[in-house]
Amino acid sequence: MKVDGKSMRSIWLEPDGWSVGIIDQTALPHRLTTARLINLEDAAHAISAMLVRGAPLIGATAAYGVCLALRADASDEALDRACAALLATRPTAINLKWALNEMVAVVRNRARGERVAVAYRRAAEICEQDIAINTAIGQNGLPLIEAVARRKQPGQPVNVLTHCNAGWLAAVDVGTATAPIYLAHDKGIAIHIFADETRPRNQGASLTAWELGRHGVAHTVIADNTGGHLMQHGLVDLVIVGTDRVTAAGDVCNKIGTYLKALAARDNNVPFYVALPSPTIDFSISDGLAEIPIEQRGADEVATMTGRTPQGGIATVRIVPDGSPVANYGFDVTPARLVTGLITERGVIAASRSALARAFPERAGAAE
Ligand code: MRU
Repeated sequence: MKVDGKSMRSIWLEPDGWSVGIIDQTALPHRLTTARLINLEDAAHAISAMLVRGAPLIGATAAYGVCLALRADASDEALDRACAALLATRPTAINLKWALNEMVAVVRNRARGERVAVAYRRAAEICEQDIAINTAIGQNGLPLIEAVARRKQPGQPVNVLTHCNAGWLAAVDVGTATAPIYLAHDKGIAIHIFADETRPRNQGASLTAWELGRHGVAHTVIADNTGGHLMQHGLVDLVIVGTDRVTAAGDVCNKIGTYLKALAARDNNVPFYVALPSPTIDFSISDGLAEIPIEQRGADEVATMTGRTPQGGIATVRIVPDGSPVANYGFDVTPARLVTGLITERGVIAASRSALARAFPERAGAAE
């Protein structure tokens, strides 16, 4: 997408043809800096320390992590070690496992001398496929926004609430939840986004607001607790969120706090949509609450806040009393019954086992 008029992606192959460039998302929104990954350890660190984050981008980075590992050692043992190290970086987003399986599938039966080239080809395809999928999600989700726009008074924007960052920074480009939003904006539809700040890491305040602003999309950052109030007052037309894993039965795991937005949306008859690329579907499980591992992260993310000082420096301050215990659950599960629809690359479908199996028979069948 555009950053001040210039096209940018979240991950790319450097001109040397083998090292991998990323945006260091820990520095946003205050500094746009990039990092270069040159080995497996760099890729694993970028994922676990959240220089890159967001389900599709975690998968794409892991794919390139396999390439970097194979450059150093193309043996079966090294492939297994690399996949195990990458898989251990973050537990919840299923795109990580999906991408590693894809890489192993193309590499395993190749001669050692071919493996690096084959791996780089598949990693590049995974990135291009992500963009194509997200573009289709945008096209399929656009009519939902257009339908609301038709009911509006002239000049009144369609108000969409989103949670966390399911934008192009969470993917390779375009984003998932943001795909219909960018398309609507680019088509000239008046649209305005309420971006939940998304404590504790503030991906909404720092990343969603940054990318929407850089692309010129009208938006307002709100504290996480504000959405229900806005919905009660008719100020939200649609909720569109992303997801890190969807079960075969349509339960949706997403950044912590998503479930509360779904409850508020249901209570106020606000449609609650989830945008998802098919690699985010985990057809091997059905019960999101029981079967999805919920990442628990360090206490510091809750106990501190980091931001820019009036002098322009970056500072971290503690906001919790010394000694107070802290819990930091990264994700929650919204049951399928609270989801109005899933916006996929193959259309908008019900959050149900039958609709998912009908839309993605090859994936559903393979998991049986
Ligand atoms: O912890 P993160 O930042 O990797 O969490 C992922 C997310 O940004 C969200 O949960 C997002 O809505 C789904 S990823 C498109």
